[in-house]
Amino acid sequence: GSAAFSSRGAFILLEGLDRSGKTSQCERLLAFLTDRQIPAEIWRYPDRRTTVGKMISSYLSKKSELDDATIHLLFAANRWEKREEMEARLRSGCTLIVDRYSFSGIAFSAAKGLDLDWCKAPEVGLIAPDAIFYLQIPPEIAAGRGQYGEERYERLSFQKLVAKQFENLMNDDGRWHVIDAQKGIDEIQRHIQELSLPVIERCHQGAPLLDMR
Ligand code: TMP
Repeated sequence: GSAAFSSRGAFILLEGLDRSGKTSQCERLLAFLTDRQIPAEIWRYPDRRTTVGKMISSYLSKKSELDDATIHLLFAANRWEKREEMEARLRSGCTLIVDRYSFSGIAFSAAKGLDLDWCKAPEVGLIAPDAIFYLQIPPEIAAGRGQYGEERYERLSFQKLVAKQFENLMNDDGRWHVIDAQKGIDEIQRHIQELSLPVIERCHQGAPLLDMR
């Protein structure tokens, strides 16, 4: 729309298991919004480019070992170090399509057995998403989408535990949308587009930025 610059951009989050199709859906959503002259960009977590991100990347590729609490806090720190920039981008009117965020942080660590409230605590005060699309897929199906790589966490038994944690985090506050990730890529995208546009519109009209709580 032509009123696209009146106020802030929307924070649109895609979450899901490894191989649920988040990344291609993010790319398609970006192309769709860009086509409609809606300023948007893709952000992804972990952001492996920062100093903290490099530590995370080394851990994920098993080049280094860290205990569960420490890596949890590094993932959270990797979001905190981008908080200010994220707020500035949103306030400049840019919609952010975000590939993983706090819910991955909480789900993956809680799946290891860390206390759920402890896992949530470092996320409080980060900017909260305006809409969350959870690409739901049975872990067995995700695992069957080509071989998992060598990265940590890419094991079916662990992904099953993560899926349980994700389902546990969803609530009915109106921001969560469960998307059947077994549908076709175009159908999924249309669904995400239809649900995103009104959210973007609300944000452009001045809906306040939310904090994680
Ligand atoms: P990626 O494959 O999307 O780059 O994510 C890397 C892995 O890190 C993936 O298995 C999910 C996991 N992860 C966490 O454990 N905690 C987090 O906070 C985030 C963002 C990802």
